[in-house]
Amino acid sequence: MYNPNLHLFENSIAGPPELGKKQEAYLLRLISEIEALKDNGASVAKEFFGGARVEIPFGVASGSAYGSKFLKRYEELGYGFVTQKTVRVKRWSGNPMPHVMHVGEGDYPAGFKSSDTPTTSLANSFGMSCLGPGFWEPDLSLFVKTSRVPLIISGVVTEPKDKYNLIDQYASIASAAKKIGAVAFEANVSCPNEMEGRSGELQDDTPICTGIIKEIKRFGFPVLIKIGYKKDLSPIVAEIGKIADGIVAINTISARITDAKGGYAYVNREKAGVSGRPLKPYAEDALKQLVSLREEFGYRYKIFSVGGVTSGNDVLSRLLAGADFVESAAMAMLYPPLALETKKILLENCDAINSF
Ligand SMILES: Cc1cc2nc3c(=O)[nH]c(=O)nc-3n(C[C@H](O)[C@H](O)[C@H](O)COP(=O)(O)O)c2cc1C
Repeated sequence: MYNPNLHLFENSIAGPPELGKKQEAYLLRLISEIEALKDNGASVAKEFFGGARVEIPFGVASGSAYGSKFLKRYEELGYGFVTQKTVRVKRWSGNPMPHVMHVGEGDYPAGFKSSDTPTTSLANSFGMSCLGPGFWEPDLSLFVKTSRVPLIISGVVTEPKDKYNLIDQYASIASAAKKIGAVAFEANVSCPNEMEGRSGELQDDTPICTGIIKEIKRFGFPVLIKIGYKKDLSPIVAEIGKIADGIVAINTISARITDAKGGYAYVNREKAGVSGRPLKPYAEDALKQLVSLREEFGYRYKIFSVGGVTSGNDVLSRLLAGADFVESAAMAMLYPPLALETKKILLENCDAINSF
């Protein structure tokens, strides 16, 4: 869905490439199989935020959609809801290219090798490139006006002057998101590629995180918090879980990325956030923790499970493990039939899902 040889700005303007004829034929077949299941009464529709309802509890995570053209494509591909890639309060070029590449062999402690052939795993290091509010405000408004699926807008802080300015920046993006017609704001407090704005480590600063949530909730807008993996999430969840409307877990995990010659695959930096298949056990563990902590503390946050989803069966098992909603970033970009294949599997298992 994305041309890695072009900058994010160029991708945003150009939109995703057209699908191939064979792929379109396959998608049409899936659609007719889905219609037959719906005709027989199958449904997994669910309440979402802002009075919206989603046809399936499976959506696009922050990072795979680079503006309205991408969001529209994900809607057409059958996702129940969509998230815009994290935006900033100002235009920001981000890191030098490359921004995203396939990775193969490796693991998180030792690092991964870049791969010239497609895999089910991506390393990304955009440095939160953003065309700025002059682009995203009208562009995302256009999407909301012309689409049926709910939009979440994700935001991050940029060079904050102090903690008050930091909270103000999140609140100002959330306020714009509300005006645009998004159903919720997602505060990205866990980006592993984001050094300058401190937002990479922000999730450990629970007073700041609760400050962000409280400020945004003052003007009556749902807030989701996007967190990264920890073996023990209880210190974070104990505080933010009390007031957040949703917790989105998990972000990518940073790892060293090398090329075929053993050198750095990214210019000027050793590491990038790795997602897709290798992230699966971490995302599953985070989900388990979020489910049991919610019960233990008696909290009401919705759980958005993201990380390592590569098939419809993965989505089904996350829902049956207690996720309210599931998302994909890497495979959503790499495999266009994912949402419709998932929809079919969820409809086939709607009794199990709805009675959970
Ligand atoms: C290309 C790419 C860009 C991403 N950009 C963002 C981002 O801007 N903000 C964010 O919160 N997460 C971002 N992520 C992380 C995803 O939202 C998700 O948490 C992570 O990739 C795990 O899901 P996956 O295994 O389905 O990819 C990005 C992921 C990818 C693959």
